[in-house]
Amino acid sequence: MTKKESDLINCDLPAKTAIAEIQSDIEAIEKNALLYDERNFDRRIEVIDFIGFQVIDQIEELLQKTDQPAQLILLKYRAEKIKSELEKIDINLFKKLQKNIRIQGYRGEEFKDLVNKYVDFNLDDNEHQEEPGYDNLDIFINELSPFQTMPEQTKDLEPEMVYYQKTPARIVFELVEKSHFVKEDVFFDLGAGLGQVAILVNLLARITTKGVELEPAFCDYARDCAATLNLSNVTFVNVDARKADYTEGTVFFMFTPFRGKILQEVLEILRKESLLRKIKIITYGPCTAQVALQNWLDFAAPKDVHIYKLAVFTSL
Ligand SMILES: C[S@@+](CC[C@H](N)C(=O)[O-])C[C@H]1O[C@@H](n2cnc3c(N)ncnc32)[C@H](O)[C@@H]1O
Repeated sequence: MTKKESDLINCDLPAKTAIAEIQSDIEAIEKNALLYDERNFDRRIEVIDFIGFQVIDQIEELLQKTDQPAQLILLKYRAEKIKSELEKIDINLFKKLQKNIRIQGYRGEEFKDLVNKYVDFNLDDNEHQEEPGYDNLDIFINELSPFQTMPEQTKDLEPEMVYYQKTPARIVFELVEKSHFVKEDVFFDLGAGLGQVAILVNLLARITTKGVELEPAFCDYARDCAATLNLSNVTFVNVDARKADYTEGTVFFMFTPFRGKILQEVLEILRKESLLRKIKIITYGPCTAQVALQNWLDFAAPKDVHIYKLAVFTSL
């Protein structure tokens, strides 16, 4: 064998090993009947991710380097087929769950049990984090939303106002655990974004919830979600939080919607409300530090001001 021929064979070896591995991964996934059981959402998410970001990506890379693509094209076809079969299971699953919420009214413990049936999560894992962390629970809750395309922002925000970012779903579950809501409570999300917090709190705690959001497109989206899921006690108002009516509110949540003077102005409105009835303010994100400085609020854990940990304040 000439040196050129042996170089060619050696050069092909890593590609052959990679193809053999891809083939055995695809076979293992095809044979795993558990993945086709709708309850195995957690495992299915990981596998769909693996096929999309590792198997198919790797096949495409190999396809660029070969002049004999037949085997790779076949493998790519098999990988795409399983991926779309698994995705179809989830599409049907979420259609069914949305219907359960809409028609059969899964609320409170029933809703929690429903989520627990599909996603394995433990709220004790909610340690303080350096930044908001998202996981399979977020994917599950996002999929429950009847609309998957986020509307575009139409309004410019003032410098102290904060752009949309979702509160991680596990933080909303923790919020409901920590709040010990009573049925008369009225929950406000200040800077409600796409409405997920107000919707989830209503589903988990069966209380009236309201969202205040400056961006009209977000507000419309949130209203449409609540209406499609048949949630009558969830409403959204499209107004600057400095102008909203809080007279009914007892619990106010903020995932840092604004900072500085705007935050102080809104806190002053809430302070006036607190003269009429006891209120709770729950914060997440950098606004916690500023809220912790208010002398009309009691913070059970003053040494525990972490940015990405829920903080619960009670009016004095
Ligand atoms: C960090 S996001 C939080 C979204 C939502 N609370 C959630 O956790 O999913 C902040 C939201 O506050 C809104 N916002 C900013 N300034 C506002 C203001 N002055 N009044 C009402 N909403 C405001 C933004 O448009 C954005 O949707």
